[in-house]
This record gives sequence, C-alpha cells and structure tokens, in this order.
Amino acid sequence: MKRRKFLKKSSIGTAGVFSTPLIASCQETSKDSSLLNDDTKITRPIVVCTWNFHNATAKAWEILSSGGNALDAIEQGVMIEEADTKNQTVGVGGRPDRDGNVTLDACIMDKDSNCGAVLCMQNISHPISVARKVMEETPHVMLAGKGAEQFAYEQGFEKTNLLTEQSKKEWLDWKKTSKYETIINIENHDTIGMLAIDENGDIAGGCTTSGMGYKYAGRVGDSPIIGAGLFVDNEIGGATATGVGEEVVRTVGSFLIVELMRQGKTPQEACEEGVKRIMQKNKGRKDFQIGFLAINKKGETGGYCIHPGFSYSQYTKEGQINHPAESFIKA
Ligand code: GLY
Repeated sequence: MKRRKFLKKSSIGTAGVFSTPLIASCQETSKDSSLLNDDTKITRPIVVCTWNFHNATAKAWEILSSGGNALDAIEQGVMIEEADTKNQTVGVGGRPDRDGNVTLDACIMDKDSNCGAVLCMQNISHPISVARKVMEETPHVMLAGKGAEQFAYEQGFEKTNLLTEQSKKEWLDWKKTSKYETIINIENHDTIGMLAIDENGDIAGGCTTSGMGYKYAGRVGDSPIIGAGLFVDNEIGGATATGVGEEVVRTVGSFLIVELMRQGKTPQEACEEGVKRIMQKNKGRKDFQIGFLAINKKGETGGYCIHPGFSYSQYTKEGQINHPAESFIKA
C-alpha cells in the first residue's frame, strides 16, 4: 500500500533564502523501493552540496545544464572550494594538523558504484581529482599519505604549498595553548559533500575536506571513507555528511541513509534517522555538529543536523537556493 503525504519536512518545507517552490508538490513514502514507479515529479538535473557553497553548485550546474554528466559536475563543482584559499576547511588554505601540515581527504563515487579516495595527502591542491584518478586509473579504492602524493605526481599533478599565511598565523596562535575545542558550526563547518543527478538520471557524489583543524598527525575523518562521508547507489540515491567525522564513521552514516531510503524513507526522514542514531550512541553528549544531506532517484532532497546552523545549497532548472536544515536540538 502506498501512502501519499504532502511535503512537510523535505526541501520545500525548509526552503530558505531564495524561497521559490522548486520540485514536487507531494511525495511518496512507500515501502516499495522501486522509487520511480509512481507519479511524483522527477527533478533533474539537480545538484546539492553541504553548506552554502553556492559557487560550487553554480559550477556543477554549468556542467549539468549543458548536458554534462554527474561525475564531471561533482569533480568540477567541489574543485571550486578546494581552490578557494579563503575556505579554511577544504583544499588550499585548509587549517593544518597540530604539526603545521595541511593534509587533505577526498572521495568520489559514480553511477556504477566505482569509487576512489585519497587520505591524509599533502601538497596537492585538488584531492578530488586525485581520488577520481585512483578510481579510474588503478585497481584500488583508497591511497593514503605519501603513496597518494606520489601517485598524484605520476598523474601530472603539481606540488603546491597548501598552508596559506592566514592559516599559518592562526596555527601559530593555536600552538600557544594547543587547546582543542570544537566550536559548533565554526571549526566543524568543514566538508563539502556534493550529490548530483544528470539529465540521464545518473547519480554521482564527492566529498573533500582538510578535516579538523589542529588534528593529530595522520588523523582521517569520515570524508574519504565510502559509506561514511559519502555513499551513492544509482538505483536509490546518495548521501553525504559534514561535521565531526568520528561520529559519522561510527554509524557508517551515509550508507545508513541510502539504505533507509531503499526501505522507503524520504531523504528528509532518512537524514533525521541518521542523526538520531548518532545521538542515541552518544547518550546525552551534545557538543558537536553533524549535518547530513541526501537525495533520492527522483531528485527529492533532505537535510538534517544536530544543532541549528547547517544548510545546503541546491541548483535546478528553477534556480539556486539555500535550504536551512532542521535540527535535532532546537535553537
Ligand atoms: N567531516 C570532516 C572530518 O571530520 O574530517
């Protein structure tokens, strides 16, 4: 039995800054996992990403709207943030670890469940592109540290100093106390996770970050871990995460959300369940932020977080919009 209900909590319900009704006026919450066997509207192409990285979704949209594929849109979209030296949580200009080294993590996944990742890689400004090369040019899924960097050089990537003067200055200030404190929505306003569906209806995703500022040397979070920071199943949808990666890894968050959508949950419901699972495991701890973002095969989207402040950027034929996400803990 299918049950139709009007959108309460999905993307329209939380539409923010440019609030134009964008997609379906109703959606199915069905136990039937064949998501396209109903009459709800299909929105594509579409791209979404964590936080209000609107330049990134604009770049991805440029590719999608000219008939490009979702994988290219993802790579080129997130590269915008990797190249932005003012963004201190992704790519060049990212905050270093406690020894002053900027180490980057990224992964990418395509419509055929191919995936590639780089972990804790230094001196290369576009880890997403190296992750794609790992996927396309090697028999492996993940390369880490020096091996990833060496592979990048072999593929023609140039050595780049990732530590900007600003990030160096802040790190030197931090060293005076070496006190690690998470500041919700600031220090953890980190990762760009992006999901796209192209005109053919194929889904791809990518995730890239410099991770936690002043982390232990060698620390890797959720972002490059397939299933944790990102997961795509072309039959169902995709999910990605931002925030304290350790907590996302513990629940294999993005995989969980895609599986919940497979069982019939909307992207919004699945993201809410993902956050609730983390809160249950943490038994009252509240001093951290997680944001989940999901999309299903129909192009319906959802986002949910622990604390207010998380939002996601979306671009469709209707234009660009930023959706503030609802939160487990209310303001
Ligand atoms: N979510 C990014 C990280 O924890 O590294």
